[in-house]
Amino acid sequence: MAGTHRQPEVNIGLVGHVDHGKTTLVRALSGEWTDQHSEEMKRGISIRLGYADATFRRCPEEEPPECYTVEEHCEEHDVDTEVARTVSFVDAPGHETLMATMLSGAALMDGAVLVVGANEEVPQPQTEEHLMALDIIGIENVVIAQNKVDLVDAEQARENYQQIEEFVEGTVAEGAPVVPVSAEQEINLDVLIETIEEEIPTPERDPDADPRMYVARSFDINRPGTTWEGLTGGVLGGSLVAGELDVDDDLELRPGREVEEGGQSEWQPITTNVRSLQAGGENVDTVTPGGLLGVGTGLDPSMTKGDALAGQVAGHPEALPPTWESFEMDVDLLERLVGAEEGETIDPINTGEPLMLTVGTATTVGAVTSARDGECEVNLKRPVCAEEGDVIAINRRVGARWRLIGIGRLQG
Ligand code: GTP
Repeated sequence: MAGTHRQPEVNIGLVGHVDHGKTTLVRALSGEWTDQHSEEMKRGISIRLGYADATFRRCPEEEPPECYTVEEHCEEHDVDTEVARTVSFVDAPGHETLMATMLSGAALMDGAVLVVGANEEVPQPQTEEHLMALDIIGIENVVIAQNKVDLVDAEQARENYQQIEEFVEGTVAEGAPVVPVSAEQEINLDVLIETIEEEIPTPERDPDADPRMYVARSFDINRPGTTWEGLTGGVLGGSLVAGELDVDDDLELRPGREVEEGGQSEWQPITTNVRSLQAGGENVDTVTPGGLLGVGTGLDPSMTKGDALAGQVAGHPEALPPTWESFEMDVDLLERLVGAEEGETIDPINTGEPLMLTVGTATTVGAVTSARDGECEVNLKRPVCAEEGDVIAINRRVGARWRLIGIGRLQG
């Protein structure tokens, strides 16, 4: 596929209940499988955010929606298809305990496809939870894929459609187009592509803005036993949300790392430089927002091993937002726990209680030092790099797991 792969220009979240077909849909649209990790394969769920790029194409001899395809050649007219747009799907995990990962991914999404199984009652717990996450994070460009229509008859499909419409009323997805598809049988995917092209446009970006990358993964790509001469520097995976990044740029990571000095510990930014860039599966000299980037750095690979730098923010030195060890935030609590029975309301936040906070791709636990109506102050276990006004997902421990209870906005 040389020359056909371009850097994706938009990130599209794929959300929905476990087993409703997100991974199958991504595979049908991109030819890739986002479950790349053997452990995930075993468990059959996407533990980490998976990204897969898809190039939407158009057959020059057909009108929309039939013209849309992911094939490079149109068999029917025996012509090559033209590239419409390359997009990146962020496959959020559907497993209930992995909500935080879903929320971290939401920071990277320009729009979302909500996958709803046509063969089950609406809503299933994660359908509701994910939609609420899109709602509070304010992801407005939503397309609903009503999947597995091959498993139901026309009457059931209509009933399910009605349920979807009622369920999204009053949310960001109200009025969003619902496209019946079968990811597995590859039915109606042309209409889905057309709808995504129309509903999830590429956002306008400012190339002169300071680059800001949310780090979602970090790796040591060296094989065991590599001698120091052969070592490759640590690699960061994530997405650029603003500006451009070039090979040889100086790079700073915040909050950086904890350094002990004279019995005191302090978080200090990490500085390095950009040695290589990968986007859309290719080595490039410059990257722009959209899709998953691999950034080769000059860092000691032991620092990047095993996602050690996930949750950091990277950019040019001195141009990143501040690091916060504590902050005050405005709080908007949900009316009730997502997926909970009617009447299960959310108690106000209490001084002293621990909260799990997701800011960008960072997840940290904060102890509430003071709580008032509509705002609270937290002391963070691990600091975060963020800007005033940034959205924070607030989770509280309920029973055995962290549950989303509301959103905050960083006040300073
Ligand atoms: P998680 O990654 O675990 O959250 O699940 P997922 O939403 O990615 O679902 P996945 O794509 O793994 O699909 C779950 C099951 O449904 C698999 O056995 C698929 O083969 C099946 N499936 C997906 N799409 C369709 C469809 O359109 N029709 C039918 N009949 N089966 C489907």
